[in-house]
This record gives sequence, structure tokens and C-alpha cells, in this order.
Amino acid sequence: MQWIACNDYDDLSDRAAYRMLRAIRSHPRHVLGLPTGRTPIGTYQRVVQLCAREYRCFREVVTFNLDEYVGIPPEHPGSYYSYMKKYLFDHVDIDAKTANIPNGMAPDLEAECRRYEEEIARAGGLHLTFLGLGRNGHIGFNEPGTPFHSRTRVVQLSESTRAANAELFTDGRVPTRAITMGIATILESRSIVLLAGGAGKQEAIERLRSEVIDESFPASALWKHPDVTVLAQE
Ligand code: GLP
Repeated sequence: MQWIACNDYDDLSDRAAYRMLRAIRSHPRHVLGLPTGRTPIGTYQRVVQLCAREYRCFREVVTFNLDEYVGIPPEHPGSYYSYMKKYLFDHVDIDAKTANIPNGMAPDLEAECRRYEEEIARAGGLHLTFLGLGRNGHIGFNEPGTPFHSRTRVVQLSESTRAANAELFTDGRVPTRAITMGIATILESRSIVLLAGGAGKQEAIERLRSEVIDESFPASALWKHPDVTVLAQE
């Protein structure tokens, strides 16, 4: 695991955006795993700015988002579909057919999870996955206690995660479930970049740094992977 200390949020965002675009330049048909949350917003903003100058950088890219809420229609402002459109997809030349997000409205959620795993495999597996870090160490929506061998599935969200993400659900109906890539799915990505920044993350960053690998702290699974970079805002 390579740790890079970032001076501030802008520095973290610049470094993450640079890594994403460098990867795409070196291999335009990149398969990216993409996160949501507050932390990656600056990264996407930089990517969009840089792509505006570099016409067609996303034309061959395939993306898979880490997660999506269950029971929230895509057009709802709190959905991760809306988030991705707002911060990335509407501003780059990605083909909507290759921008994948789990369908949290699927009538058969188990089948949707299987389909998502199959799509990732059909694309040739994830090349480079960016992750945010939950305050309790969650990655994607893999909450503490998630087995490291977990794959894409439906999960119950913890109360602390629901509270942290309540902002965009103004009617107070914060989702209780989500579809998330599993930890094993994430660990199969050839490279991983963890964006460890933002308010309230210091404790989680310290716990990750302690190198104790334990299912009670999902991000610690990243120590098992040979190519992880942590961009840490400290
Ligand atoms: C959500 C997402 C995670 C994200 C986490 C941290 O729970 N499902 O993928 O990493 O929030 O979000 P933030 O960056 O807003 O702290």
C-alpha cells in the first residue's frame, strides 16, 4: 500500500484526477470502478475541466459504480445515478451504454446483483477502482462485519451511514438498503486508489494505517491487495 500525504482537499482531488486521466490516456478502453459521496466531487470536477480541453477522453471508457440505493428512482436527486450525471457523465463524452450503475429499482434484486457481476466480468474486470472511505471504514456500502469474500449484493445500511447520507433525502425518507459491489469484487480490480479525505475521517485513516486487517473495519481488506494507493488528506 502506497500512502501519499495530500496537503489539502484540492491536492487530493488533483492527484486523483491526474491518475484517472493518466490511466485513460495510456489505455483508452479503461474499465473504471467509481465512487460517490462528498469526497470524489473535487476529483470529478478536475476531470471534467481537464477533459473539456482534451476532447473525447472518455469515448472508450467503461465505468462501474460501486453502489446504488434500493428503491430510489434514478431521477431522484439522492440517487447515485443523479450524482454521476451531475458530476461526471453529463460533462464528458462517455457512452451511456458503458456507464454502469446497479439498478436499485430492479424487480428481482438478486438477479440484478448477479447481472452486475457478469457485466464486470464481460468487460474484462475492473482495471482501476477509486474508493471513498466511510467514517466507520466502509468501502462502497460494505459496512463493518462484511466478509472479505463478499460479492455484489443487497445490504442494509447502518444508522450512521444513513445519517451521513441523509442530506439529499429532504422528505426524511432515507433509504435503508443498497446494492453494493462486494469486498472481493473490489479487490479483484487490478489497481485501487482510496480517497481518504474530508471531515471526520481522521480516525478511520489512523485505523487503516495501523495495518490491522479485520472484517470489523472493511477498508483494512485493502492491505491484502498488491496495488493500492491511499491519497490521505491529513
Ligand atoms: C457513501 C458511499 C461510499 C462513500 C462514503 C463516504 O456511503 N456509498 O462509497 O465512500 O459514502 O462518503 P463521503 O465521501 O461523503 O464521506
